[in-house]
Amino acid sequence: MTRKPVIAGNWKMNKLQAEAKDLVNDVMAGLKQYDKEKLPEVIVAPVFTSLYVANKALTDCGCGKVRLAAQNCYFEKSGAFTGEASVEMLKDAGCEYIIIGHSERRQYFAESDDMVNKKAKAILANGLIPIICCGESLEQRESGVTDSHIASQIKNALKDLTQEEIAKSIIAYEPIWAIGTGKTCDSVEANRVIAMIRNTVKEIAGENSAEAIRILYGGSVKPETIKEQMAQSDIDGALVGGASLKADSFVKIVEGAM
Ligand code: PGA
Repeated sequence: MTRKPVIAGNWKMNKLQAEAKDLVNDVMAGLKQYDKEKLPEVIVAPVFTSLYVANKALTDCGCGKVRLAAQNCYFEKSGAFTGEASVEMLKDAGCEYIIIGHSERRQYFAESDDMVNKKAKAILANGLIPIICCGESLEQRESGVTDSHIASQIKNALKDLTQEEIAKSIIAYEPIWAIGTGKTCDSVEANRVIAMIRNTVKEIAGENSAEAIRILYGGSVKPETIKEQMAQSDIDGALVGGASLKADSFVKIVEGAM
């Protein structure tokens, strides 16, 4: 089975509204020369406050080449949850994907495996696609628990999801020590871990779901690294932080995945 590649830009806590609008427009200008069918699934994830302008820029363009994601959500529908936004609200703002379980959210905002699972269920129930992040710290890697830690994160995140729901989800393997450090994980090693994740999905949801689910690599992805990463058997794309904040480097990464 051929899986459609995904290149997703995680803007993290960056870009005011005017900057977000410019970046979206510049990315679309950079992709103008390519047929939509030839492009990977291109996703940008601005901060909540820039979702409106980003969505407007994407809708005004009407080219349908770039889709919108949120960086977080809450799993309840509505109510007394100060500071949170529900999946329905993010869908209303134009989001088709939501990133969950990013290591920064796990580390600074106490996002647990259980919350990631509840968020994944809420996202899928609303017809959106979760981008579920997992990854080990340097300490975990050095003590040899990378695979068991990641398998456990994945099993918890996918708990009680149907095979169909799992098949359409996206996973991002992001070794924490590679995020924002400029130290990309060796492609062969990233592919090994991603194949292990796919095997874990197979155990949970069967062969078809394991073959269909897209699993991305994230952690200091750059225009110079993407080709080698995409050449691996199990890497289906990239979740890009720093290099997604400039249109030229993000567009080059998209081109590298074609
Ligand atoms: P980075 O971030 O590309 O800046 O390392 C990746 C991420 O955290 O998603």
